[in-house]
Amino acid sequence: MYLITGGAGFIGSNLVHALVARGQRVRVLDNLATGRLDNLEPVRGTIEFVQGDIRSLETCQKAMQDVRFVLHQAALPSVPRSFEDPISSTAVNIHGTLNLLLAARDRRIERFVFASSSSVYGDTPTLPKVETMPTDPRSPYAVTKLTGEHLCRVFARAYGLPTVCLRYFNVYGPRQDPASTYAAVIPRFITHCLRGTAATIFGDGTQSRDFTFVEDCVAANLMACEAPIAGCEVCNIGSGSRISIAELHAIIRRITRSAASPQFESPRPGDVKHSLADITRAKALLGYTPRYGLESGLAPTVEWFRSREATSP
Ligand SMILES: NC(=O)c1ccc[n+]([C@@H]2O[C@H](COP(=O)([O-])OP(=O)(O)OC[C@H]3O[C@@H](n4cnc5c(N)ncnc54)[C@H](O)[C@@H]3O)[C@@H](O)[C@H]2O)c1
Repeated sequence: MYLITGGAGFIGSNLVHALVARGQRVRVLDNLATGRLDNLEPVRGTIEFVQGDIRSLETCQKAMQDVRFVLHQAALPSVPRSFEDPISSTAVNIHGTLNLLLAARDRRIERFVFASSSSVYGDTPTLPKVETMPTDPRSPYAVTKLTGEHLCRVFARAYGLPTVCLRYFNVYGPRQDPASTYAAVIPRFITHCLRGTAATIFGDGTQSRDFTFVEDCVAANLMACEAPIAGCEVCNIGSGSRISIAELHAIIRRITRSAASPQFESPRPGDVKHSLADITRAKALLGYTPRYGLESGLAPTVEWFRSREATSP
């Protein structure tokens, strides 16, 4: 049995669908803070859905029954949100992770995979980011993710709980929320382009990112459950190439055949200038190789948003 925390969210629900397609038993623990039950259609009847909060140790302990693998995706996942409400981000992302680790330790879980983030590297000028580099979190959110990694390491050392921390680099794809105030850049750009409205670029657009298609992120999680790991490992999960935000907007405009130009606003606090993953470690340790480039990942993503736009009232 796989426990997927945050399984009603973007990455979590893609994991659920992939595991159900492989015939695996899945339990989702989610309080629907940012996730949606819609994301679990049409597999809702084949999985166990527990509506609950990872801030409750008791809830985490109950959810851990009969579980072999934990894919811990639940979090309040936004940098701007963590500046506006650092107390909630910290409570969910740190205290919630600690509760799950305690419950996993007591059940002797085979593998605990933690959704970490490239934001732990901060704005260091060195590219690509490699796991041996010093970390330098620039937001409360990044601090919560780095703390989660430290907790995973402590639980691996102290209690022999095998843990893998995956530092995701800007994941995108179907089921990513375009509507929240804290929406990520790709769903925002696609939605604006499909509607013919101006998307906002924070900064001058020369900032760059390594974008990871969600199917590659899903594959990395599944490999992290199977790889022969004893202690705690940390791996970057990215595509290994980067693109500027202005170029990204131009590509999405072309794919959607949109005439809408972007508008520019001041950069946001905590945003890093450039980001690029060194994925050598994930390749060696997990056998991870990204299968999607930006264009091949954007095509199904745009199609998914297009069909959603067509059916939304
Ligand atoms: N999307 C990215 O680019 C990205 C990059 C780096 C790291 N991550 C990490 O990946 C994970 C998944 O992110 P996502 O993009 O799918 O976000 P998401 O908001 O779509 O998913 C998070 C899920 O966690 C659930 N959740 C929030 N608080 C909870 C609580 N207290 N108890 C139970 N469930 C709770 C939400 O309802 C939601 O379903 C997060 O841990 C995030 O920090 C994401």
